[in-house]
Amino acid sequence: MSTMWHLLRVILIFSVFLSVWMERVSAISIQLMPPYPAVGQSVTLSVTGITGNIREVKWYKGSNTDASNHILTYIPSANSPQSNGLQYFSRASALPNASLLISDLEFTDGGNYTVSVQTQTAQQTSVNLTVYEPVTDVVLKSNTSEIKENDTVTLTCETKNANRYEWVRVSGSLPSDTIQSKDKSTNTITFPSIKRSAAGDYYCEAKNPASNKKSNIYTLTVNYGPEQVRITGDVNVTEGSSFTLECFAESLPNATFRWTHNGTHLNSCQQRCSLKVASDTQGMYTCIASNSVTNINASTTVNVTVNAASSSPEMNDGPLSRGAIVGIVVAIFAVALIVAVIVLFLMLKQRKKHSASTNRKQHVSATVASGNGQTNESAAEHDIQYTSVTFAQRPPRKVQMQPSDENVVYSDLRLS
Ligand SMILES: *[C@@H]1O[C@H](CO)[C@@H](O)[C@H](O)[C@H]1NC(C)=O
Ligand SMILES: *[C@@H]1O[C@H](CO)[C@@H](O)[C@H](O)[C@H]1NC(C)=O
Ligand SMILES: *[C@@H]1O[C@H](CO)[C@@H](O)[C@H](O)[C@H]1NC(C)=O
Ligand SMILES: *[C@@H]1O[C@H](CO)[C@@H](O)[C@H](O)[C@H]1NC(C)=O
Ligand SMILES: *[C@@H]1O[C@H](CO)[C@@H](O)[C@H](O)[C@H]1NC(C)=O
Ligand SMILES: *[C@@H]1O[C@H](CO)[C@@H](O)[C@H](O)[C@H]1NC(C)=O
Ligand SMILES: *[C@@H]1O[C@H](CO)[C@@H](O)[C@H](O)[C@H]1NC(C)=O
Ligand SMILES: *[C@@H]1O[C@H](CO)[C@@H](O)[C@H](O)[C@H]1NC(C)=O
Ligand SMILES: *[C@@H]1O[C@H](CO)[C@@H](O)[C@H](O)[C@H]1NC(C)=O
Ligand SMILES: *[C@@H]1O[C@H](CO)[C@@H](O)[C@H](O)[C@H]1NC(C)=O
Repeated sequence: MSTMWHLLRVILIFSVFLSVWMERVSAISIQLMPPYPAVGQSVTLSVTGITGNIREVKWYKGSNTDASNHILTYIPSANSPQSNGLQYFSRASALPNASLLISDLEFTDGGNYTVSVQTQTAQQTSVNLTVYEPVTDVVLKSNTSEIKENDTVTLTCETKNANRYEWVRVSGSLPSDTIQSKDKSTNTITFPSIKRSAAGDYYCEAKNPASNKKSNIYTLTVNYGPEQVRITGDVNVTEGSSFTLECFAESLPNATFRWTHNGTHLNSCQQRCSLKVASDTQGMYTCIASNSVTNINASTTVNVTVNAASSSPEMNDGPLSRGAIVGIVVAIFAVALIVAVIVLFLMLKQRKKHSASTNRKQHVSATVASGNGQTNESAAEHDIQYTSVTFAQRPPRKVQMQPSDENVVYSDLRLS
């Protein structure tokens, strides 16, 4: 039992000593400056944690201190402090603080480096140097050349030397259902069922710890439709006129249009369909919109009816518009009215002159009416008198008729 306890105490003390020793051995370490060096740059393998005077430093290319891995030895007190080993290369040089400087880095410089530092005691440590190559030739590609709505689309950020990828939509954010790796370590994103709202400009940025580079801008086009096909134009047309139907659809790329009449193809029609009204014009007109990328056809139909021209003059297509006809009628009435007014005016003017003489000598006027010789001026009065007399249908010469004749004349005078 006591031997058992003794053994345990020995093990405990030994392990404490071991850990203290380990701590002292691992007290030095190597830091890379910069931490992610790239090809062509310089890096310092900086040794930290050294206590006491440095007597000798040895650098090895590898994870152990075999002579075959020996790069160089640095002895600060020597007249020429640096001496070279089997793995020496001219871009490597020792620094007075035990660090190793490697300039003009090459990718093959990457790997394990071990340093042993002799002060009061000897200590050694290793580091894994990774030399990064700069990110170059970043190209954003889609795996589908002509993207249709609802397709599954994968975008790939093709590049070299990168290990992280950022995805950017130039205006707005990525669609919410976009599949991408959380740690940004994969060079793809996937739209499981792409929508037209995802259209726009995208780029990726490829990165490694030493560098980063943006790709080209990729314009994502999402083809869709045709949808919401509709026909505009007059579906209620008049005999002897012409009419136009036009077809519209939501579509990317633009739809192409075909027309049928009662199911028969109309060769002359594209988006617009202009036709003369004929005896067989009536019927069903169908517009078929087609999208060459989505290969979707969509259609809509209107029923065109023809009305008799007489019962329904067409506003625009007839030889005369309704307005023109109204105008002509109004003009005719106006001219007739003006002529009537002028005639009336002249008549009254003549009557007025006549009545002036009648007022002076009524009896003479009656005598004039009997047809005796007169001057030219009174000739017209004579005619008018005659008219009145003729209206009365009495022979003017008869004297017995004169009073009634005078009454007719008087009533005319009162009018003036
Ligand atoms: C060693 O010297 C180099 C060059 O002067 C310097 O960059 C580096 O920081 C030094 N390292 C330590 C641990 O002081
Ligand atoms: C150094 O580390 C990198 C990853 O950081 C690894 O790929 C490489 O294999 C390591 N090299 C050695 C020599 O261990
Ligand atoms: C570099 O060191 C690591 C451990 O530090 C070891 O696993 C690896 O095998 C070493 N690589 C080389 C090439 O020696
Ligand atoms: C593009 O990739 C997606 C998924 O990664 C796949 O479903 C689709 O078929 C691919 N398209 C083409 C044209 O290869
Ligand atoms: C995509 O799917 C939606 C909903 O299922 C549908 O309305 C739309 O027409 C589809 N688009 C295409 C181009 O097939
Ligand atoms: C598509 O149609 C619209 C409206 O009809 C027109 O403005 C546009 O120029 C057309 N685009 C192409 C590429 O033909
Ligand atoms: C189309 O159908 C209508 C109604 O059945 C008919 O009046 C018309 O003559 C037809 N036109 C043609 C060109 O088939
Ligand atoms: C759409 O119409 C075109 C032209 O008539 C035809 O070739 C094609 O098969 C149609 N597509 C579908 C999906 O019906
Ligand atoms: C088209 O319109 C005419 C006149 O209004 C009507 O007699 C005919 O039944 C309609 N045809 C269809 C297919 O609706
Ligand atoms: C077609 O036009 C005629 C004459 O303008 C009109 O009487 C008729 O009600 C119209 N029919 C329709 C369906 O609009």
